[in-house]
Amino acid sequence: MQGCDASVLLAGNERNAFGNVGSLRGFDVIDKIKATVEQSCKRIVSCADILAVAARDSVVAVGGPSWTVSLGRRDSDTASEALANRDLPAPSLAVTDLITRFAAKGLNLTDMVALSGAHTIGQAQCKNFRTRLYNEANIDPDFAMLRNASCPQATGSGDGNLAPLDTTTPNMFDNTYFLNLQLNKGLLHSDQVLYTLVGGATEDIVDGFASNQDAFNNVFAAAMVKMGNISPLIFPQGQVRRICSKAT
Ligand code: HEM
Repeated sequence: MQGCDASVLLAGNERNAFGNVGSLRGFDVIDKIKATVEQSCKRIVSCADILAVAARDSVVAVGGPSWTVSLGRRDSDTASEALANRDLPAPSLAVTDLITRFAAKGLNLTDMVALSGAHTIGQAQCKNFRTRLYNEANIDPDFAMLRNASCPQATGSGDGNLAPLDTTTPNMFDNTYFLNLQLNKGLLHSDQVLYTLVGGATEDIVDGFASNQDAFNNVFAAAMVKMGNISPLIFPQGQVRRICSKAT
């Protein structure tokens, strides 16, 4: 995790960081897109740009907002597991630590809450929410019971079992993620901490998005543009890879 330079696509290294190993997938999809682009246009479109456009189009495909992706990012020729371990926020973090991590990348509180709303789609592995299920008080009891069924308490058992991050509409991009937080139905500790102190700064933002889907869509789209502009490599830095998983 160096910036928006597709370092995460290189085989090994960053892909093995604690938050990525056993979790990231879909590399084959990016490789296929890249192979098709290469057929008509050799070494012009970077893997970093392909990833940014694919992220935008995926959000649109599940009902979310669109935004303009500025292009011209170049690809790194290295990736670092250590850097990813240092910079990727863990789901066990407290809200103050999350704020610090996002601020270090130039993302403010509103950006952070909106971007966390990406958890309106997708899934998480049991090992990433077990502690919350069995040790936290601010969890809806029925929701906890539902998730306990496929996430046993014993470490090592069912670690990879998946549960939806948004229990209401797991495959739709909408604002139910925020409504769930209001009901103590956030799956990850790092989700629910956005709504632990009612009247606090992040809580107000959650309330705003929970009551206004358009506001969430607009702020999310703007924050994705901002995140997509974090430390890109611009010509003459970097390269345009031929295959996204290889630096040559
Ligand atoms: C606030 C800091 C964040 C933390 C601590 C965090 C943590 C996590 C964790 C632990 C998972 C589950 C991974 C697994 O169990 O395999 C996950 C999934 C996911 N995260 Fe985040 N995340 C954060 C922010 C973001 C942001 C900013 C985005 C994008 C804008 C995002 C998008 C996603 C998506 C789409 C999934 C589902 C992936 C899938 O189903 O394959 N997350 N996140």
